[in-house]
Amino acid sequence: MERQGCMHMRERLEHILKEVVEALAGVVSLRELEEVRLRFLGKKGEMTAVLRGMLSLSKEERPAIGQLVNETRAAIEGRFDAIEKALAAKALEESMAREALDITLPGKRAKKGHKHPITLAAEAISEVFLGMGYEIAEGPEIELDRFNFELLNIPKGHPARDTQASFFVNDNVVLRTHTSPVQVRTMLTRGLPIRIICPGRCYRVDEFDATHSPVFHQVEALVVDKGVTMGDLIGALQVFTTKIFGENTKIRLRPHHFQFTEPSAEVDMTCWECGGKGCRVCKFEGYVELLGAGMVHPNVLSMCGVDPEAYSGFAFGLGIERTAMCMFGISSMRSLYENDIRLLRQFN
Ligand code: PHE
Repeated sequence: MERQGCMHMRERLEHILKEVVEALAGVVSLRELEEVRLRFLGKKGEMTAVLRGMLSLSKEERPAIGQLVNETRAAIEGRFDAIEKALAAKALEESMAREALDITLPGKRAKKGHKHPITLAAEAISEVFLGMGYEIAEGPEIELDRFNFELLNIPKGHPARDTQASFFVNDNVVLRTHTSPVQVRTMLTRGLPIRIICPGRCYRVDEFDATHSPVFHQVEALVVDKGVTMGDLIGALQVFTTKIFGENTKIRLRPHHFQFTEPSAEVDMTCWECGGKGCRVCKFEGYVELLGAGMVHPNVLSMCGVDPEAYSGFAFGLGIERTAMCMFGISSMRSLYENDIRLLRQFN
């Protein structure tokens, strides 16, 4: 009886191995392989049944049959592993073939954006002054009336306020009408000497037309040191205009009035279109208006904590739109804000 059990076990194991080989021969996918694995090696599989059957063997028989069971199991697992490897390699090959890129196809060119002409002009201006040792300063666009007007020698109720129609947030807060409040902020917070430029956005209640926009940009410059003169101002402006508009650019100063500078001037430069001969752009004047400038008013210096007896300074404020229009030959300020792609594309 016992011998029979033993024989029976051997046969059964041989039979299982044969069955495994047959079943594996038909397997074409990892999923099918898994099914076969469950059938033979799973909890309810045939090998588990064989192990359970060992309980009926005698103590003497068990070691030999146990070894045989282990060998058979190892043989079966070895076959499974080999087939699994082969199937995985085939699947990888197939997916690579399926997903292969044809690198000879022409690509789609990504459309890259570029800087707006106002940004280009602001950067070009900044570059020139950085080269002369100026630092860039910044200030808020929503500004205190105190910094936008009062400390610039324009007290509340002063008629000079009428020249800068303003968007007021309340009695003491205004959208800055120029970048000059950055002068004030710099003098109040930085040590002397000062040499800064401040590019930034400004706001005025203006109709939108060929030369005006309610939102516009300025660059403010401020130099404060011992012995600064109008000659230094003119020198800085000459370097700036020739670097930006070309070697042959000339400037001229016309007397003007600003509350925060004394003396004050409006600065013109030779027309970028005709070079000074006279044309439509400069209304046959040969010159176009460029910026406002002057020597910082002693009142402004002392209100901002600088001793006007010991120090002097110059300042100027320049429209970036106007500069961009001159640099790039754009005839209307509107073009800078309409975002017409046909114009903007030209600055790529
Ligand atoms: N802040 C003046 C304006 O906006 C320009 C200016 C700046 C004039 C500095 C003189 C000195 O009109």
